[in-house]
Amino acid sequence: MTILSSRYAIGMLVLALAAAADDALSTPADSVFRLNSSNYESTVFHSGNNGMVLFYQAWCGHCRRFMSVWERLAQETNPTIFIASVDCGAIAEADICRSSDVTTYPTLRYYLNRTEYDYRGSLSLDALHDFISSTLAVRCNPMLDVATCSEKARKYTTKWLSMETAKVRQEIERLELLMDRAESSATAELRRWMRERSDILKIILQHQTGQAKKESVQYGYEL
Ligand SMILES: *[C@@H]1O[C@H](CO)[C@@H](O)[C@H](O)[C@H]1NC(C)=O
Ligand SMILES: *[C@@H]1O[C@H](CO)[C@@H](O)[C@H](O)[C@H]1NC(C)=O
Repeated sequence: MTILSSRYAIGMLVLALAAAADDALSTPADSVFRLNSSNYESTVFHSGNNGMVLFYQAWCGHCRRFMSVWERLAQETNPTIFIASVDCGAIAEADICRSSDVTTYPTLRYYLNRTEYDYRGSLSLDALHDFISSTLAVRCNPMLDVATCSEKARKYTTKWLSMETAKVRQEIERLELLMDRAESSATAELRRWMRERSDILKIILQHQTGQAKKESVQYGYEL
């Protein structure tokens, strides 16, 4: 009897701890912008920025498991892109889900030039970052317009523009390895800078290989 009841007590304790952990994961951290019925439209359609919104319910297990990815994404994404969430079970937020026809959870939408789209890609952190930098980001492109780039990015570009293509390729590989390894240890700011550098290098590489193609056409040989 005593053994049974102590087992029971431990069982209840485990359940209580699990419930506490669930609570912690069921709402996103402060890094994720919470939308409600008074700021939803102004954020997604009228802020002049692109971004993504996660629609979730606290009871949804898939949503809870995804929450840490969403928080990391919010921390690591350039602030000009909003990464927000709507809790469809919260009174001040449920109207948004109804008027946006959200019926399954999690639902991910993106907002590009004031238009809403469904996101149907992979939910991995890397895939989301790639999607943002290829589709939503107003990218720093030093080849087209240096005004889109920070001072730091401009200096970095100047330095790498004069390097050989092979070196640039190597550096992209090095940064991508670092980003994989840095998962947990690097600060969000550092991870963002690593990503920005690798994006810049890819633009430089395109520029260099495009240049090489033009020269090869001029001289009549194929690369
Ligand atoms: C919506 O969120 C904003 C900012 O987070 C807050 O100031 C406002 O009171 C909220 N409105 C409602 C209706 O909850
Ligand atoms: C969004 O708007 C910008 C600026 O008006 C334009 O350059 C860009 O092509 C648009 N993107 C899409 C996907 O419509």
